[in-house]
Amino acid sequence: MINVLFVCLGNICRSPLAEGIFKELVKKRGLTQNITCDSAGTSTYHIDENPDPRSIAIALEHDIILNHLGRQINSSDFNKFEYIVVMDTDNYEAIKLVSGYPHYKGELVLMRKFDSLGRNENVPDPYFGADDGFKLVYDMLRRSCEELLEEIVKKHQL
Ligand code: 4NP
Repeated sequence: MINVLFVCLGNICRSPLAEGIFKELVKKRGLTQNITCDSAGTSTYHIDENPDPRSIAIALEHDIILNHLGRQINSSDFNKFEYIVVMDTDNYEAIKLVSGYPHYKGELVLMRKFDSLGRNENVPDPYFGADDGFKLVYDMLRRSCEELLEEIVKKHQL
């Protein structure tokens, strides 16, 4: 089993949306027995909260139901996940400070490493912006999730 963790700051906007999109792609490819995913935040701000209503809405527009409660990344995640895919460089740096990270054997990567329309750029935080920010973020996450899945399929010969 390949396990993928998506990480942002609050775990209510970007990373639960990435989790929902990726899960849907995995399901469509018939790979639910091979690949799992989850999401987490680096902060404690929204623990046990539902995703932001704007993330829920943009997901629903694409027939994706988000089903996740906010949680904070912790040291046991480094043992569970082969891939930790992070939304921006601030959170990338924050993850490196979580206890246990120095022993991490998996891949810590930026989400948009997999986005041909903006390699290695940040997925902007849409929380304080207008609703159209969520559409932009959805499109970035969609492209990135598609390429990430291709990479995993190839690398692990699924
Ligand atoms: P996320 O967005 O990191 O994509 O979940 C945010 C959600 C909440 C806050 C910041 C970003 N906040 O400051 O509460």
